[in-house]
Amino acid sequence: MYDNDTEPTFPTNLLTIDQLSPAALQRLLNRSAAIKAGEEAGRLTDRTVAMVFEKPSTRTRTSFEAGVTQLGGHPTFLGQDDIHLGHGEPIKDTARALSQYVDTIVARLHSHDDLTELAAYADVPVVNALTDEAHPCQTLADLLTLREIAAESGEQLDDTTLAWVGDGNNVARSLVVGCALTGVELRVATPAGYGVDDDAIAAARAAGGEPALFDAPEAAVAGADAVYTDVWVSMGESEDKLPAFDGFQVGKQLLAGDTKLLHCLPAGRGREVTDGALESDQSVVWQQAGNRMPTQQALLLELLGA
Ligand code: CP
Ligand code: NVA
Repeated sequence: MYDNDTEPTFPTNLLTIDQLSPAALQRLLNRSAAIKAGEEAGRLTDRTVAMVFEKPSTRTRTSFEAGVTQLGGHPTFLGQDDIHLGHGEPIKDTARALSQYVDTIVARLHSHDDLTELAAYADVPVVNALTDEAHPCQTLADLLTLREIAAESGEQLDDTTLAWVGDGNNVARSLVVGCALTGVELRVATPAGYGVDDDAIAAARAAGGEPALFDAPEAAVAGADAVYTDVWVSMGESEDKLPAFDGFQVGKQLLAGDTKLLHCLPAGRGREVTDGALESDQSVVWQQAGNRMPTQQALLLELLGA
């Protein structure tokens, strides 16, 4: 949990978004914008970042690797068949060995408990690159994107109303807390049995938010500035859950006026989102994907005090 510091301090790790205070998150977004504008002087010279990935990734892996390289550091990718983790060596041993060599560990693991164990045994900062429970790096890019959209009409991030439509999954859990920390009004439409869990809602409330919960998309999107969806079947899950999502597809009918469309990607076109909506002028998914890099660069600079 965060402290309401006036002078924001950074946590040692970023495992969940609620480790950031509202002030620290604001500073991170400001620094991300400065990086994007080419105004950042911080460097990661001679720093090595281990990238431990148990699941596939296009955006997270590449934006971290390229982002570290741009800042003068060195990313080293350790996929599931590259290291002993998952093939007999325990997490705690992996954590203690890697800590001797690298300055940060970025990890995409199946189990959030495994990530917590990794962080407990590591002597260097650990960053969650997605687990079954959380995707805080995605939330950073989402918030920067919403801030940029708000700025186009002379507004602030906390003037924004966002609707989440679909599964109450890892991306949604981090988003509800990120919105609470930044004053974004969030409306969440999920089918019965697939809502955002009580812990995430409690974390959002602790951060000063009150997500409005709906069981159908139409009411949630009414008046929203942006609509956000994600896959209905996350990596490692069964497709048995699919029938529950009938009626939750985001198409142009849910994007009234100039309502923007967000999606963390990869997208299931024709499933949770229509091709027409994703390719429309209202879609900001490429801007959102692009924002993964400056936000993660800012995060690494803050974590390493660079
Ligand atoms: N949004 C996201 O995390 O994408 P990848 O799975 O491609 O990293
Ligand atoms: N909820 C998705 C996000 C992918 C970036 C998953 O976990 O597969």
